[in-house]
Amino acid sequence: MEEIIKRYNELVELINKYDYYYYVLDNPLVSDAEYDELKRELLEIEKKYPFLIRADSPSQRVGFAPSKEFRELPHKEQMLSLDNAQNEEEISEWIKKIKRDFPEAEFILEPKFDGTSLEIVYENSILKYAITRGDGLKGEDVTNNAKTIKTIPLRLLKDVKRIDVRGEVLISKQDFKKLNEELLSKNEKTFANPRNAAAGSLRQLDPNITAKRKLTFIAWGIGYYENLDFQNQFEVLKFLKEIGFKVSEPIAICKDEKEAIEFYRKMLKERDNFPFELDGIVIKVNQFYIQNELGWTIKSPKWAIAGKFPAVERTTKVIDVIYQVGRMGIITPVAILEPVEISGAVVSRVSLHNFDIVRNLDIRIGDWVYVRRAGEVIPEITSVIKERREGNEKIIEIPKNCPVCQGQVIKDGAYYKCINLSCPAKLASHLEYIGEVLEIEGLGEATANNLVKLNLVKDIADIFYLTVADFMKLPNFAEISSRKLYNEIQKVKEGITLEKFIMMLGIPSIGKANSKALANKFKTLEKFLNCNYVELTSIGGIGHEIAMNVLKFLKDENNQRIIKKILDSGLKIVEEKKETRTSKFFYNKKVVVTGELSKFTREEVIKFLESIGAIVSNSVSRKTDYLIVGKNPGSKLQMAQKYNVKIISEEEFYEILKSEGFLQ
Ligand code: IVH
Repeated sequence: MEEIIKRYNELVELINKYDYYYYVLDNPLVSDAEYDELKRELLEIEKKYPFLIRADSPSQRVGFAPSKEFRELPHKEQMLSLDNAQNEEEISEWIKKIKRDFPEAEFILEPKFDGTSLEIVYENSILKYAITRGDGLKGEDVTNNAKTIKTIPLRLLKDVKRIDVRGEVLISKQDFKKLNEELLSKNEKTFANPRNAAAGSLRQLDPNITAKRKLTFIAWGIGYYENLDFQNQFEVLKFLKEIGFKVSEPIAICKDEKEAIEFYRKMLKERDNFPFELDGIVIKVNQFYIQNELGWTIKSPKWAIAGKFPAVERTTKVIDVIYQVGRMGIITPVAILEPVEISGAVVSRVSLHNFDIVRNLDIRIGDWVYVRRAGEVIPEITSVIKERREGNEKIIEIPKNCPVCQGQVIKDGAYYKCINLSCPAKLASHLEYIGEVLEIEGLGEATANNLVKLNLVKDIADIFYLTVADFMKLPNFAEISSRKLYNEIQKVKEGITLEKFIMMLGIPSIGKANSKALANKFKTLEKFLNCNYVELTSIGGIGHEIAMNVLKFLKDENNQRIIKKILDSGLKIVEEKKETRTSKFFYNKKVVVTGELSKFTREEVIKFLESIGAIVSNSVSRKTDYLIVGKNPGSKLQMAQKYNVKIISEEEFYEILKSEGFLQ
C-alpha cells in the first residue's frame, strides 16, 4: 500500500506540473500519449482507493454534477471596479493630478483584458472557493466551474496560509469564434462577444459544459491575504507568477504621463495581435503606501484607472438587406446599417454570409444588433438585441430570382446560387473556370475579366465563337498571343470528354468527382441532358438536393439554349482515350486517399486511380467506398470509421494493384 500511496502522490504532482507547463507557461514537457497514460494510471488508483483522492488531484477538475443555482459567497475584501479614462488626455490629467500630491509616485501599466472577473480563495495553498465579482461584496460560488480551468492551480506552488487571488476569466478570440460557430450549428443562442462568452461559460450550472469551453484565467491582483508582505503591485504580480498563475503581461513601470501614453499607444497598436481581446490598459500607482493614502471612492480605487481603447463593438440598426451575386453565382445577403463608428472606421454595411446565419441569428430588417470590428477584421453582426424589437421588424426573405439577371435560384449547401449560364455577375469567373477545366492556356482571370468588360462575351458559349481579331481587342494581346489563344480554343473544340463538358457547365455541387460519375453513368450527352431523378439518385454521392439542382439546371430554357449554342460552335464530345485498363476492384468506386504513400505523391495516386476507373474525391462521406490510408493519416480516417467505409492500408493497396497487374 505504501508503494501505491507513494506512486499516487507522485502522479498528482507530476500531472499538475505538466498542466502548469502546458497551460500556464505554454511549454509542454511531455507528449499527449505519455500524459494520457499517467492520467489513466492516476484514475485507476483513485477508482480502487477513493480514500486516497487529494483535493489537488487533476481528477478534481471535472466530474461535478450540475447545480440548480449558485449559492452566494462573500468577498472578504470588497471587489471594486475601475474608473475610466476615455482618451490620452484624460490619462495624462489623472497621472499629473497624482504626481502633484505624490511626486515620488510610480505607475505600473498592465493590459486590460476584456473578460469577467473572478476571485479565488486559497487556504493552506489549496483552492477553496471561486467567487464571481457579483455586487462587489458578495458573488456567486462558481468553485466547481473554476476548477475546470487549467490555468487555475488547484494547489499553489508555494506554501501560503491564505490568499484571495483576483483576475480575469477569458476566452481567446479564436475559441470565441469557434464556440459561436458550434452554437450556431446546434441552433443554440450565440454570444455577442468574447466577454459574454467567458462570463456565460463560467456561470454554467453544469461544470461539464464549462470544462468544454476553452477558458483561461489571468491574474491581476489580490484581495485578502495572511502572513504575506507586499510593498507594491509589482511584487504582487511577481508573487502571483511564483505561485503558479499566468499574470497580465506585458507590464511596464513608469514615472510620468509621457511614458504611460507611450505604453497605451503601443498596446493599442498591438491590440489585434493578442489572442485575447484587450479593451484598454490599467494604470495603477505602484507603491502600496501611496495607494492607501489615496484611498477609494464607494465604486473604485483612487489609485488606479482604466485607459480605455476605442470600442470594437457597437449597437446599431439594420435598415435594409440587399443581395450581392458573387463569383460562381453565390447570392450573399448584405445588411445595410445605420452608420456607426467602430474602432476608427465607419461601418454601414456588413455581409451576412449566408441564409443559415441569417436564420440562426434570426436577424430581421429593423432589428438592433451588435456589430463588431476588431482591427483589420471584416465587421460582422454577432447578435440581435431581441428585447428592443417593436413588432414591425421584417423577416429577411431568400430571393426567388437572381437579383442581377432574374435567373433561377437553387440551394447548394448553405448557399443559394443563380444557375443562369449567362448571368453577368458570374460570367467572368465562369470563363476563368472553363479555362481551368479545359486547360486553355491564356484564358486566366485577367483575360476573362477583359472579355466580359469589352462585351466580347455575353454568355459562356461566346468563348467558342471568338476570332483572332476579337482577341486582338484585348489589352496586352498582340497578333501572336491572340492566334495562340484562338488555336487553343479550336483544339478544345476538336474534342473534349463528356466529363469535362459536364464539369465546364458549373452546375452547383457538380465538381470533378460528380462530373465523372455522371459521365460514367450516362455515357452520352444526349442521355445526360434527358436524365431523370431516379437515374440521378442511383449514382453514389448524388442525393436529393444535388439531383434536383441538376434537373433544374438542365430544364432551364436559357441554359438549354446556351448548351445548344456551345454545340453549334462545332465543339465535339469524344470518348476518353483509355491509356490503361480499368481496375475490376476500383472501377466506378468512390475512393478517398489520406496520409502519405511511399510509392506515389498525392497527385500521382489520384491521377493513377482515376486512370484505372476510380472516382477520387477529397472528403469521406457515407457514399465513399474505400479509404486508402498512408502514413500520418488525418481526420478522414475517423470519418471513415464512423461511416463504416472500407479502409485499405497502403500495403493492401499495393497488393490489389499487383494482383490486377498494375504493379510488379
Ligand atoms: S485592477 C479595484 N487590473 O477590469 C479594481 N482590473 O473595468 C482593480 N481588469 O473589474 C482592478 N484587466 O475585471 C485590474 N490588469 C487589470 C485588469 C483588470 C482587466 C478588469 C477587472 C475589473 C475591470 C474594471
